Amino acid sequence: MSEHTLNAPAPLLPPDADKRTWLLATAAAASVGVVATAIPFIETLTPSERAKALGASVEVDIADLRPGDMKTVEWRGKPVWVVRRTPEMLDALQGHDAQLVDPQSLRDQQPVLAQNAARSIRPEIFVAVGICTHLGCSPNNAPKGGNNPSLPSDWPGGFFCPCHGSTFDGAGRVYKNKPAPTNLEIPAHRYASDTRILIGDDAAA
Ligand code: FES
Repeated sequence: MSEHTLNAPAPLLPPDADKRTWLLATAAAASVGVVATAIPFIETLTPSERAKALGASVEVDIADLRPGDMKTVEWRGKPVWVVRRTPEMLDALQGHDAQLVDPQSLRDQQPVLAQNAARSIRPEIFVAVGICTHLGCSPNNAPKGGNNPSLPSDWPGGFFCPCHGSTFDGAGRVYKNKPAPTNLEIPAHRYASDTRILIGDDAAA
C-alpha cells in the first residue's frame, strides 16, 4: 500500500521546488483504479521549450479507460484526473446538495462547463485538477464502500484529502465544514474526438 493511505495523515507539503513532482507522484500512487499516468519529461527541456510545453494543451486518449477507472496526466505542472464514471457513480451525485458548499459550482473559479451536477461536458467523463483547494495536497480517490474511518457510513464515493480531512463528492464538490473552501478546479478542456480530450483547450470543437 502507498505510504499516503486513506487512514494516515499525509506529510505536509515539501518545499515548492519539489511540490509538483510530489503531487504527481502522490496522485498516481494514491488513486484507486488508475490505469495510466502520462507525464512528459519536461525537466529535460530547455527553459523556452519547457515554458511552451507547460502552456500547451495536453491530449488524453480515453479509449482504454474502463468504467470506474481513472488516469492522471500532467498539465501545466498539475495532476489532472480523468475518470470514466459508472451509472452508479452518476447516481451518487444526487441527493446531497444541502451538504455541499457550492453544489451548482457558481463561485468565481468555476468554469461554465462545471456548472451542472456532474461538473463535466459529458456526464460519464469527469476531468478535474487533482489538487485540494485548501493547501494543495492531492486528495485520494475514496470510492463508496471503502473502509476509511474518516468518512461517514453512508459515504456515496468521491475524494478524500488526508492532509486535513476535506471531502469532495464524485464531482469534486467540497462538503461543508471542511478546510477546503471551494470545489476542485475543473480545467478548460474539449473533446477533439469521441475518445480524445484536449486538456487546457476550450476552443469550439
Ligand atoms: S490540503 Fe486538503 S484538507 Fe488541507
